[in-house]
Amino acid sequence: MKYLNDSLISLQYIIEHECKEAKKVILVDKNTKQHCLPILINKIKALETAHIITIEPGEKSKNNYTVDYILRHLIDIGADKTTVFLSVGGGMVSDIGGFVSAIYYRGICHIEVPTTTMAMVDAAIGGKNGVNFNSLKNQIGTITKPFYTCCYLPFLKTLDDRNIANGAAEMIKLALVADKDLWNKMKTMTPLEIGQNEKLMEACIELKEAIVSEDFYDTEKRQILNFGHNFAHAIEAFAMSINFDIQHGEAVARGIYYETMLSKNILGFSNTQYDEVINYIQKHFVVSRTINQYLQLLDYLRFDKKNRFGTYRFTLLKEIGCPQTNVLVSEADIATLLLSLQTNINI
Ligand SMILES: NC(=O)c1ccc[n+]([C@@H]2O[C@H](COP(=O)([O-])OP(=O)(O)OC[C@H]3O[C@@H](n4cnc5c(N)ncnc54)[C@H](O)[C@@H]3O)[C@@H](O)[C@H]2O)c1
Repeated sequence: MKYLNDSLISLQYIIEHECKEAKKVILVDKNTKQHCLPILINKIKALETAHIITIEPGEKSKNNYTVDYILRHLIDIGADKTTVFLSVGGGMVSDIGGFVSAIYYRGICHIEVPTTTMAMVDAAIGGKNGVNFNSLKNQIGTITKPFYTCCYLPFLKTLDDRNIANGAAEMIKLALVADKDLWNKMKTMTPLEIGQNEKLMEACIELKEAIVSEDFYDTEKRQILNFGHNFAHAIEAFAMSINFDIQHGEAVARGIYYETMLSKNILGFSNTQYDEVINYIQKHFVVSRTINQYLQLLDYLRFDKKNRFGTYRFTLLKEIGCPQTNVLVSEADIATLLLSLQTNINI
């Protein structure tokens, strides 16, 4: 566990030497302020004098109003181009902190300190940031490399089981698109076991970094990571509009489910592998098998960032570990899929 264990020591060096003179600002939400900030400051004393900006936890904070609040705060405390901005939190804090530091003075130094499994294995890696806008997921954002990402596992001690399993959904997606051996290990474990397994976390971090390093600006290879995400983002946006409590990983699990079905219908994904994935998701995640409101979902799917010239584009699986990006999917394909799933649970 060299990679993860050395992470805090490196951060300490950066803060105490490389950024010694800089003004430091730490973004937290109310939960990470309580559970993680004291640990961080206890380990890195130079952060005792940092300015703390606290936002409300949860996806509902990931919007332009919170960006406005943080920017005003930065101006009030006289943050300048040399300021170092640390995002200490889950994917929500990471996404909004990355975005603010990418646009303030056209970019200030951003350090990621992820505190959820989701943020450690995914959100804080690869520089994608942003906020939701007009009820659409991640509608505004940039791709800007953080100066450093510090994955310190002891932060996870206060994370509840739901949030650990939530992060595991992205680990499962990563294995499905990029590493069949990793999936073969994961498929015998529960999401909670996956999300608590340091070796698997480290493997996922390395895998995601390798994919991102080949295509930082998301023009080709990196798009394999979008598997499950057309539906996930549509489901999250729809959930927000009706105040339904769902986390990103829970939406990704549903997305994997629907997009595995599309993979079979459109790319001939094999029956054996199909059963394996569908049975795993059905067993371990809540997946409703319909969508009464499929028309609303279609509306949200229309805004997906992968779509081009009014056509739906998905990343689907030809086989486990062998994804195909930019697959054209018709509205009729999606409607047929959703209407074929008959139950009466909402999302
Ligand atoms: N940029 C990317 O590449 C990328 C990738 C994946 C997900 N995301 C985004 O990440 C967000 C989801 O992230 P998340 O699942 O981490 O959710 P989150 O950031 O909302 O955190 C979940 C909950 O855990 C709490 N929390 C965080 N750390 C804690 C700790 N150590 N102890 C106790 N409580 C803690 C938070 O306050 C929150 O209530 C979504 O907005 C998603 O779109 C972005």
